[in-house]
Amino acid sequence: MQVTPNSIPKHLAIIMDGNGRWAKKRMMPRVYGHRKGVERLKEIVMRCHQLKIKVLTVYAFSTENWARPKDEVNYLMKLPESFFKDFMPQLMENQVKITVIGQVEALPAETQAMMREALEKTKDNQGLILNIALNYGGRDEILRAVQSISRCVANQELKVDEIDQTLMDQHLMTGFLGDLAQPDLMIRTSGELRLSNFLLWQLAYSEFYFTEVLWPDFTAEELDKAIESYAKRQRRYGKV
Ligand code: FPP
Repeated sequence: MQVTPNSIPKHLAIIMDGNGRWAKKRMMPRVYGHRKGVERLKEIVMRCHQLKIKVLTVYAFSTENWARPKDEVNYLMKLPESFFKDFMPQLMENQVKITVIGQVEALPAETQAMMREALEKTKDNQGLILNIALNYGGRDEILRAVQSISRCVANQELKVDEIDQTLMDQHLMTGFLGDLAQPDLMIRTSGELRLSNFLLWQLAYSEFYFTEVLWPDFTAEELDKAIESYAKRQRRYGKV
């Protein structure tokens, strides 16, 4: 790939879309697509590690995904287990640190336990941060930040005039990422041209890359193409 280190995004965010359609094309049940999707995520994590990307945020389950058929939701809840089961040694070897954003408390107990174990095991790792958005919704995140700030005002820990963008950043679920909270590049697979409630605040100045490729077909080479496209763009942050 013809890109220099400073044209590699520091924070990459991905909407991994198209698993269901990928399976349907093969006359297979939708969950088969999710299984392939998990395998593809492992490849992409390794590529991000090689490229020295600092944060990879992936949209694994949205607050709207509960409306799917019960069997599919149950399957999606087991994805963390199938991801970590055999991939943990490689994550540890490569110093990948797992973090999570979203309402984890509302997930089934086994899913929560699986996530807690992964967070605990990888907490001291110093490499790529793999940030998993699980039961996550951007509007829900913003509402909770507003509630949390309002509580500080009600407790007289904070004055209304002290509320600024930095404070909002701190109260969002990505607050722990500090300067790295805003993705430089957001990729969505499968040809859909929407944000679908993903990182609404954080994506304000991000570059977007949309591809027709379905997530189970999104190889490391496809990721390289997205990064090459990003590397050619000039980010202006509203300036000329
Ligand atoms: C969207 O495809 C994909 C999902 C809802 C799940 C994506 C999750 C993974 C690939 C892995 C998650 C990994 C961990 C570690 C939790 P879709 O079903 O909406 O596809 P469609 O639009 O074709 O129906």
